[in-house]
Order: sequence, then structure tokens, then C-alpha cells
Amino acid sequence: ANGTAKAGKSRNIIETMEESDKNCVVFYGSQTGTAEDYASRISKEGHSRFGLKTMVADLEEYDFDNLDTFPDDKLAVFVLATYGEGEPTDNAVEFYEFIGSEDINFSEGGGADDKPLGNLKYVAFGLGNNTYEHYNSMVRNVDKYLTKLGATRLGAAGEGDDGAGTMEEDFLAWKEPMWAAVAEQMNLEEREAAYEPVFEVTEKDELTPEDDTVYLGEPNKNHLEGKQKGPFNGNNPFIAPIVESSEIFTAKDRNCLHMEISIAGSNLSYTTGDHIAVWPNNSGKEVDRIFKVLGKEHKRHTVIAVKGLDPTAKVPFPSPTTYDAAVRFHIEIGAAVSRQLVSGLAQFAPNDDIKAEMTKLGSDKDYFKQKVTNRHLNLAQLLEIEAKGHAWTKIPFSFLIEGLVKIQPRYYSISSSSLVQKDKISITAVVESVQRPDAPHILKGVTTNYLLALKQKQHGDPSPDPHGLNYAITGPRNKYDGIHVPVHVRHSNFKLPSDPSKPIIMVGPGTGVAPFRGFIQERAAQAKAGQSVGKTVLFFGCRKRSEDFLYEKEWEQYKEVLGDNFVLHTAFSRDGPKKVYVQHQMEEYGEEINKLLEQKAYFYVCGDAAHMAREVNTLLGKIIAKYRNVSETKGEEIVKAMRASNQYQEDVWS
Ligand code: 2AM
Repeated sequence: ANGTAKAGKSRNIIETMEESDKNCVVFYGSQTGTAEDYASRISKEGHSRFGLKTMVADLEEYDFDNLDTFPDDKLAVFVLATYGEGEPTDNAVEFYEFIGSEDINFSEGGGADDKPLGNLKYVAFGLGNNTYEHYNSMVRNVDKYLTKLGATRLGAAGEGDDGAGTMEEDFLAWKEPMWAAVAEQMNLEEREAAYEPVFEVTEKDELTPEDDTVYLGEPNKNHLEGKQKGPFNGNNPFIAPIVESSEIFTAKDRNCLHMEISIAGSNLSYTTGDHIAVWPNNSGKEVDRIFKVLGKEHKRHTVIAVKGLDPTAKVPFPSPTTYDAAVRFHIEIGAAVSRQLVSGLAQFAPNDDIKAEMTKLGSDKDYFKQKVTNRHLNLAQLLEIEAKGHAWTKIPFSFLIEGLVKIQPRYYSISSSSLVQKDKISITAVVESVQRPDAPHILKGVTTNYLLALKQKQHGDPSPDPHGLNYAITGPRNKYDGIHVPVHVRHSNFKLPSDPSKPIIMVGPGTGVAPFRGFIQERAAQAKAGQSVGKTVLFFGCRKRSEDFLYEKEWEQYKEVLGDNFVLHTAFSRDGPKKVYVQHQMEEYGEEINKLLEQKAYFYVCGDAAHMAREVNTLLGKIIAKYRNVSETKGEEIVKAMRASNQYQEDVWS
């Protein structure tokens, strides 16, 4: 359990709290950074409003067998995201296995006792998505285990729902009664909250961006020193060459990228069905916007050192750096701005009118929804509108580092087969560019537009960047030839049957087809090599045959190899008078689907979680009911059992 300890850092949370004089620890289990952000907000609020001496802790960095000695005058907070099919986030795996273990053993022998955690006071909030079957199972199970072990929860356990899009409001609604319960139980007095920085930002006039000790966007020391050094993972990306990039839609107004990314020599490996993580940076357009609104343009390239004012505060990016590099490469400035952040910003408003407006936005949920959420504003866009020509010069830079999350890698389903190209990963991604009715800006996906910019640069496209997004194409100290992108690989459970002669059915409309291109590529290669390959059925849907029919030509090539064993059913939603979706095609070929399932075909769904994947799940139950002559309830149960035995697999996103 000690494998992930940083050199010299204690894995004993009780000792760490004693040594740094803390009485509240906020643990997080986070995959994409939201839980981590909530943890840091709880920590700051506990301190500023109630005088708690708080710290934030990554679950992965501590051991838990001494929780039975957790002092009863201290508080533990658990902020836990549920990932995928009810799994713990990567950093919470060990904790989850420990706390749920049947024969749990505490260091002080507390395991023999039936209430070993009798001293532990805790609160809990979960982040989940109700479109998944195991909604918020992490927080529900951990809460159950802790209670069973005798711990006392203060206030109700909270559950945030990303599926309904209410995560932020669920969190805000949960935390007020939670604080009331904590304040009462721990005898805390609420006080007037003033901003107390967690980080100290010092301008280093003696350094310039040319100094080779200054980070200009490099993820870590090796990169700064010009050495790519593995292992490459979620803390250390591989700067990978893009060996090929192309546009694969024929529609004029939408883009879909196909990219080939080389991982040769990196020691990274993947298997068909895995995900590739792409590390984006922010568009120059949004970086410019934030410096302008802060009245800080003249300081952009000033060198700064950032340090935690408390030994438990972790600086989220390498230092020394420049304001520009911190914002461009490390801070998520493009995300929707939260109501809590807006409320915290009121104190730094340029004048009293703006302050009053920010306070109103921060406290009135409906007003905030109408003025901010529905208009899809990021922080700088909101500040720009509210400032009415003034600059927000009073916002401390530390406040932004603390209030915004660190930029997160984005995951894409790999669209190639590792059997066919083990050193090259294919990506298939639609470039997000949406004009929503109420939004004053075109919404531009940070990462897909970054990839588009890389592709345009690679091809020397004549009129790149019509929206002036102005991405940094190479790192500031580019040492590499050609176009690169920082990546790592995340392994998934979305896998072909190990026996290729088993039949498979795949449902993947839009870019949901990505992993299935990999699957079919693999089966074609197996067939070519003389292996017996089972029936391979793909349901694909898109808008128009002539615009976004992904890999149209390739399917024909696979067909030549696989023959009648490869069947493609297409659904074009905007070619005829009526919408045709993959579900319509599934209904039409229901008998065949059922027959294959009875021959133990694997069934796969990839793409939109909220609607498509749910509807496909329901429909499959109905198809089974119809062709097996059983009730629909029974059909649903059969689908459930298929999921439990991995015969039904999903790779979905919302
Ligand atoms: P539409 O946009 O014309 O409604 C890829 O995005 C394809 O999936 C498009 O043809 C899209 O159709 C279709 N699609 C949209 N909603 C869907 C749903 N609930 N189930 C299946 N396909 C859907």
C-alpha cells in the first residue's frame, strides 16, 4: 500500500494533521478534477467561515488502517466521485477496497471491536451521474461501511447529479445544512468570511522567461530540462508526434478529425478499446480575455513563484513560471463559472454597483441560471460583461489559482486496433463548436479545437483559425520536429471477446463508432491471418450519408476481408422525411440480434450516455422479450444479467 508515497512524505494522516495543526481533513476521490475542486472549496470555506483548521488530501496519498485512532475532536470529509459503472476513481481504489473489506484490520486491533471507528466524525458528498445504473455508488457504499464500523456522520450525505446537470446546485444545497450540523456538533461559531489566501504568489523581477529555470508550460522538471522521461502517465504526459491528421466529414460547417499519434519509443502501450488522454492548453483568445479583464496584460510575462502558505497546500503547477504560462497551460479558464466563485469575487469588484450585482448573482440561484448558466459563460466572459469597461484589478492571482481547477486531460476512445498498429493510436473526434440560442459566444470545445489547430498547422491550411482562437501550437521551448500533442493512455474494460470466433454486435452512432473501428480493424486482421472470426455486426448512425458517414470507404475494405460475417446497418437521421436512428435499425433486425445473443454474442454500446445508450438498453430488453416470448420485465432482467457478466459493455459519455 506504500507504492505511491512521495519521498519523505508521511502516509499517516493523523500524524500529518497533528504536525500541521489541523482539525479537519477533506479527502477526495476524483477522476476529472471536479471532486478535487469541491474538496478544496469545502476546505477553504470551513476555514474562512468557521475557523476550522482544514487540509485537503488525495485519498491515494494516505493509509487508512489507523482510522480507528482518529481523534474525536477532529472531522473527516469525504468527497467521492463515482466513475463509470459504479467504480471508484483511480485514486480511491485502495481506500475503497480497504474500507469495504469483509475482514478489515486496523492497526490498533480495532478490527476485533464491532465499532472500531466509534471516534470518527465525518461528512460525505458524492458526485455521480444518474444516467448510469450505479448512481453515486461510491458515496453510498462508503457511507454504509463507515456507519457499520461505528463512525458518526454529521448532516446528511449529499449526492450531486451530473446527468441532470445539477451538480453545482446539488453541492450548494447540500453544504449549508451540513455546515449547520458540523457547527453545532463541534461548537463552532460562524464568522464574517474574508478571503485568506492558500497560496502566495511572488513576482520575481530578477528572473525573465528566458531563464532556463522558469517553466513556460512544461508539465514537470524532465520536460523543463528537455528530457522526455517515463513512465508516462496522468502526472507526466508523453509529447507524442502526430504522424497524420485529416478531416473526415464532407460537411462544410462541421469538422471531424482523424489523427494518428505515435507512441513509438515511449513505453506506452494500449489494447483495443482503451482511451487516450489528450492534454490541452487554452486558446490564446481566452487567455487574452482573462488578462484584459484583470487589467494585467502588461504583466503577462512577469515571472512568478507560487508556494503554499501551509505545508499541506499543493501548488497545482510547477514554479517559477509566468502568469501567461500558468493561465495558458495549467488553469481551466474555459469551464462554466460556478455560483460560489461568483459570490467570492464580489469582494474584488471594481465598484459598489458591480459588487451588488455579483452578490445577487452569487446568492440568487434562478437569477444566476438565467444570467450565467443559460448563457454558458466562463469566468472571463462573465467578468467582461459585468465590468462594463472597468478592469478587475483587485482580484488576487492566488484567488484564481484556488478558485479555478487545474486543467484536466480529456479522454478519447481509441479508434485503432493495437494488434494492427501497436505504436500508433488513432483518434476520431468531432470538433465542438456550437452556437446556443442564449449564449453571446460560440461555444468552442477547448481540446477538440486545439487538435483542429494542430491539424491545420500540420497541413498549412490556407485559412486556418477563422475564429482567431490562436492556440499555442508548440511548447514554448520547442525541441521537437513536427507537430506534437501531450498524451497518456488509460486502460479500459471495454474489450473484444478473447475468442475471435464469438459473434459481436456493436451500436455506435456518431463518433461512438470510434472504438468499433478498432474492433473491426482487429477482426479483419485476425481473419487475414487465418483465424476464424465470428459474425461482426455494426449499427452506425449519422445525419447524412453525404456529410458525416464516418469511414465509409474503410467499411468496404473490411467487408472484402470478412465477407458476409461483417454486417453494417446504417441509420441516416436527416436524409429522409423522418428521423432514422440506430434504434430503428435494431428493431428491424431484432430477430437476428436475439439469435446472435443466444449464441452468446457480446453486445457493445458507445456514444451518448444520456439518451442513446439508455434507449438502446431499454430497446434490447424489448427485443429479447419479443423474440423469446417472455415478459418485458423478464427481458429487462436478461439485459441486466448480460451487463453483470460483461456480455453487455458500454463506453459512454455525457
Ligand atoms: P440527429 O442529430 O439528426 O437527431 C450521431 O450524432 C447521430 O445520432 C445523428 O444522426 C443524430 O441524429 C443521432 N441521434 C440523436 N439522438 C439520438 C438518440 N437519442 N438515439 C440514437 N441516435 C440519436
